[in-house]
Amino acid sequence: MNRTDESRQFLSEVIAGLQSKNRSIPCKYLYDARGSALFEAICRTEDYYVTRADLALHERHLPEISDRIGPDAHIIEFGSGSGIKTRRLLESLETPRAYTPIEISATALESSVKDLRRDLPLIEIVPVQADYTKDVPDRFLRLDPPARRRVVYFPGSTIGNFNQDEAVAFMGRMRNIIGDAGAILMGVDLLKPESTLLRAYDDREGITAQFNLNLLARMMRELDAEIDIDAFRHEARFNRECSRVEMHLVATRPTRIELGGRQFDFDSGESIHTESSHKYTLDGFQDLAAQAGLESLEVWTDPDELFSMHWLMRR
Ligand code: AVI
Repeated sequence: MNRTDESRQFLSEVIAGLQSKNRSIPCKYLYDARGSALFEAICRTEDYYVTRADLALHERHLPEISDRIGPDAHIIEFGSGSGIKTRRLLESLETPRAYTPIEISATALESSVKDLRRDLPLIEIVPVQADYTKDVPDRFLRLDPPARRRVVYFPGSTIGNFNQDEAVAFMGRMRNIIGDAGAILMGVDLLKPESTLLRAYDDREGITAQFNLNLLARMMRELDAEIDIDAFRHEARFNRECSRVEMHLVATRPTRIELGGRQFDFDSGESIHTESSHKYTLDGFQDLAAQAGLESLEVWTDPDELFSMHWLMRR
């Protein structure tokens, strides 16, 4: 099999993860085309409250948020931003200077830019194809003349998918981008009763289970892995010590995964950890932001206080 760099990287990260004592696979691999479609479907389920709460927050506070942003701002979104929230935010701004979606997938970027240019013809759209989890060179973000301020927009709750060190490093990179006048609008999911969290990550329609199990199917499709998928089930766990929901693929009987010329044996009950979703209190998140040299100057929540949006600036 002639592997691309991307698939070589996938193979080596899966092997490293399966070799480690606590088996895990990086959650970014959940998002192939099928995984991304399943994630969209999760967002429409009754049990996954996150998307609804984030939208309700936007609904409730958009006028204040756009007041905070003010005129002549350069909105920089980490992610392709084809969604309804981006649209509403851009529409609510009085005189936006420009909008830059940063997205690694050329197809996702192209399609969101096409839709936004059609729907919001008055806003200058300056797309950047790049991996936003790495440094994004400043020359890609410079405008001539420069905007009054840059605002990095990161709704959803993807910050929760980073462990805390990664989250601090990631926010540190955002801090470099915004400069002294700029700000970050960061969506953060809040800690809530365990039963609500577990239901959200193991929805009754079984979509999250399909999303998690698709990772094994992807390994079979792309890495020629031999896996008895029926020998695994999806499990959502709440890890209280780390304040996070974890997704695992648990072996329901002794089974073996073969890939890249290696074999990985599983006893019944052994699992692969595939994703963490950290849940914060407002104070807990503010402390984390402070470690990245950021101060949360304003926080908005949805009416049920399930989800929050922080306005962060350099300390
Ligand atoms: C993308 N991210 C914010 C989602 C979350 O809630 O952690 C991914 C997800 N995994 C299972 N359900 C949703």
